[in-house]
Amino acid sequence: MGLIIEAERLSRSFGGHLAVDGLTLAIAPGEIAGLLGPNGAGKTTTIRMLATLLPPSGGAARVCGFDVVRAAGEVRRRIGYVMQQVSPMGYYMLTGREKAEIEASLYHVPRRQVKDRVAEILDLVGLSEHADRLVQDYSGGMQKRLDLACGLLHRPELLILDEPTLGLDVQSRHHLWDHIRALCDQGTTVLLATNYMDEADRLCDRLTIIDHGREVVRGTPAGLKEALGAPSLDEVFLRHTGHALREDLR
Ligand SMILES: Nc1ncnc2c1ncn2[C@@H]1O[C@H](COP(=O)(O)OP(=O)(O)O)[C@@H](O)[C@H]1O
Ligand SMILES: [Mg+2]
Repeated sequence: MGLIIEAERLSRSFGGHLAVDGLTLAIAPGEIAGLLGPNGAGKTTTIRMLATLLPPSGGAARVCGFDVVRAAGEVRRRIGYVMQQVSPMGYYMLTGREKAEIEASLYHVPRRQVKDRVAEILDLVGLSEHADRLVQDYSGGMQKRLDLACGLLHRPELLILDEPTLGLDVQSRHHLWDHIRALCDQGTTVLLATNYMDEADRLCDRLTIIDHGREVVRGTPAGLKEALGAPSLDEVFLRHTGHALREDLR
């Protein structure tokens, strides 16, 4: 099988500012691929171009074999996209099951299959017992698992997760990682943007580290550390760029 994501010199500017500057990506089926970089590095902009929500200013990308500009509909049918911040407003008065059913219709899941599909994905993320509780009573971790589940309703080949564990406590993060890993084991390719070094290290098979819209370096987490004799990906980032991955932690 070919690559799931192929991006060549992908760029996007806003006004005169190059948010993504000539990024090349090659992501194979069955991987958990990571985009690791600090806030403002261009992760979300890259993801929005791959998800057909933002036209590139330059370069090209194919997702699941289709060009993101010329065949956007084909791409959309094959991907699930879980946004960085999903506003729970408007969903507050719904149960988890009701929210998933609404999302299923947005994703064009055939009406006759909705009930079964929703039950299946709620089970997959361990929310079956809580399906009939209001989303507003879910913990942050449960809301994120529900978002993850909703991205899977139409059985996408590629699931794109933008900072899936942002703001969660350590236990909920680890729980979510287990679910993401399980999805990958079942054959879904995952592209994940994060600025958490430990998330990239523990979860991703392969990483592209970016800064100011450009690739800094790419490789496996272990390979990247070995090449520099660095103890952590933080250190890998620091040595390549001269500044810290998360300024707020230093
Ligand atoms: N819609 C937009 N209009 C103007 N500037 C934007 C827009 N979206 C992102 N940017 C800018 O592009 C850069 C990359 O942002 P983003 O892709 O959101 O980074 P990340 O997701 O890595 O934090 C930032 O400098 C940001 O301010
Ligand atoms: Mg972002």
